[in-house]
Amino acid sequence: MSDNYVHGYSPEEQQRLVEQSERWNELIPHGLNYQAGQSVLEIGCAAGTTLGILAQQFPGIKLAGIDFNAEQINFATQHLTELGLSADLRIEDANHLSWEDESFDHIFIMWFVEHLDEPLGVLAEASRVLKPGGSISLIETDYSSYQVAPRSADYDCLNQSLCQLFDLSGNAVIGREIGALLHQAGFSQVINEVYPLHFIAGTQAEELRSHVEYTLEFIEPMIPDMVEKLNADQRTLEQGVAHLRSISARENGALSHLIYKAIGIKQ
Ligand SMILES: C[S@@+](CC[C@H](N)C(=O)[O-])C[C@H]1O[C@@H](n2cnc3c(N)ncnc32)[C@H](O)[C@@H]1O
Repeated sequence: MSDNYVHGYSPEEQQRLVEQSERWNELIPHGLNYQAGQSVLEIGCAAGTTLGILAQQFPGIKLAGIDFNAEQINFATQHLTELGLSADLRIEDANHLSWEDESFDHIFIMWFVEHLDEPLGVLAEASRVLKPGGSISLIETDYSSYQVAPRSADYDCLNQSLCQLFDLSGNAVIGREIGALLHQAGFSQVINEVYPLHFIAGTQAEELRSHVEYTLEFIEPMIPDMVEKLNADQRTLEQGVAHLRSISARENGALSHLIYKAIGIKQ
């Protein structure tokens, strides 16, 4: 249900999605070979920002996207129009797509399967609307891999609460599962890569600061739900946030996490 969606649908969250897609603008097209004239459907397209990056990287592709939230689709429509792009955007549940069988050359999914209880149903539906020989690409993370130096019990509590909140309506560690999921869903030639990120104080101070801010932008708005839904201790969570924010100013500060990409082909 969209009411349980962990990030919500505020204008601030939509702006965060714009910045997030720009942050990953090299990872998004990596390993893909979309040709002009081919069609791509993004499942869980949210604010349309990833579709915008794909269209800039692969000029001439035909864009389509679905999201079950109307505010996201409205934002996506406006965002893509401002970029001079047109797209077939629909408000619908990923488990029941309205397109006919074998409609698309490619499916793209990013930061989406983490929000699903039952990803195999959505992958089966993706496979249904994909043409034989078409590709599916997933990018997801593992929230338990977000680790900091120096260590902090408050930060550990924050990270555990983050994972537990995702797990209420999805899967906090789905990144490590996506390659096997594509195989299980019947896709062939599956390629699954992990991108380890690690930023340190000193030589990477600016990258560290920027990545800490990026991380806080999605964690901080989730704190009220951690308190309400998990009964987590607000003061401990706030101290965890303060610790995370402080690491960019520490000489021994560092932040690590893992991102996974998986690509498969429909037989
Ligand atoms: C984090 S956003 C996706 C971000 C987007 N892929 C990007 O890279 O910018 C996740 C989106 O999935 C949507 N969503 C979650 N479950 C869904 C479902 N079963 N069907 C359709 N959309 C869903 C939410 O409304 C939300 O907009």
